[in-house]
Amino acid sequence: MIKKITTEYEELENWEDLSFEDHVLVKKAYEVMDNAYAPYSKFKVGASVRLSNNEVVTGSNQENIAYPSGLCAERVALFYAGANFPNEKVETLCIVAKGDLVPVETILSPCGSCRQVMIETEKRQDENYRIILVSQNGKTIIFNSALDLLPLAFGI
Ligand code: THU
Repeated sequence: MIKKITTEYEELENWEDLSFEDHVLVKKAYEVMDNAYAPYSKFKVGASVRLSNNEVVTGSNQENIAYPSGLCAERVALFYAGANFPNEKVETLCIVAKGDLVPVETILSPCGSCRQVMIETEKRQDENYRIILVSQNGKTIIFNSALDLLPLAFGI
């Protein structure tokens, strides 16, 4: 028997159509993207997270000459949240990116390892959260759960 997996997300022409709370997240993600340490890939990623206590934490990708030692922006932000606010739930994660070779309309789709971490965050807090992805020219897509980004994930 053949089974089909489908996923769902919302698309907006511009992130300015989001709520005020989400505006704050998008702006912070853009801001922190400039703190990326990405001398090897020249690809900068920013991530912001709104927690249930309304705290916003951020992360950017941090590379290393020993390539696998670096870490993606999403995991820097989520691990920071887990390390500093272990009892708060993640409500929204926002991710933006830019690079010389990346067209402005390209939306960064998080890597597989980040998706796995995003899913475990949901599992750990027993609640899904929104994931907002924004391109450099403002095009926006919104997922309602990390599971929508990684169906059949390991450990679920
Ligand atoms: N990167 C992220 O920060 N997030 C992703 O989801 C994909 C990739 C970073 C890792 C590396 O520093 C650079 O982007 C190029 O892969």
